[in-house]
Amino acid sequence: MIQIAIDGPSGAGKSSLARRLAQELGYLYVDTGAMYRAIGLYMLRAGVEPTDPAAVLPRLGEVHLELKHLGGVQHVFLNGEDVSEEIRREEVSMAASSVSAHQGVRDFLTETQRSIARQNNVLMDGRDIGTVILPDAQIKIFLTASAEERARRRTRELQQKGQPADYEEVLADIRRRDHNDSHRAAAPLRQAEDAVLVDTSNDDFEAAYQRLYRLIQGRLG
Ligand code: DC
Repeated sequence: MIQIAIDGPSGAGKSSLARRLAQELGYLYVDTGAMYRAIGLYMLRAGVEPTDPAAVLPRLGEVHLELKHLGGVQHVFLNGEDVSEEIRREEVSMAASSVSAHQGVRDFLTETQRSIARQNNVLMDGRDIGTVILPDAQIKIFLTASAEERARRRTRELQQKGQPADYEEVLADIRRRDHNDSHRAAAPLRQAEDAVLVDTSNDDFEAAYQRLYRLIQGRLG
């Protein structure tokens, strides 16, 4: 099986680029962030403080997650309910960032992620795919963009959806999450030694897509 790992901070365009690349290559796209988001959502709903591992870990046994690909699009089911839309809320983003810092939560998801990659050609995106989950992936990409550019994109995206968005607040949020994700003890966000760094600060979607596509095709030979 072929494994392509794409890691990087939030808002670098990983998921939209990875989704389209996977479609083009005929690989399964696996968005691992959605799994952390679903766990974050479960804890919020259950009234459990997401930052507290002593509260979160005993409740993991109540969480049953499934990823289903419907019409090529990944849907996440939490205890049988399709929560793919709801996990995109800002409140859930913060909860996901908090629960993902607990080693027990990461261990809970590791085997699921690895087993998907054993059974399919995958393009898997996350924070620790190249470093921890799939250290032997044939291709590893570390996709990034400046915090300011990521905040501009996110603000535009929210405004296009008709949601109120303030650039400074979005930027502060991105910085807070970057800090959480790269300073935690458990599997912090970092570039694998054998990953190719791709900075999309000056690329639009199409340009970034073309760069990645050529890179992958070059590697796959
Ligand atoms: O990619 P995303 O924004 O949907 O991820 C949500 C949160 O989950 C983010 O704060 C980082 C965390 N995450 C992680 O720790 N490891 C992964 N493989 C994927 C996401």
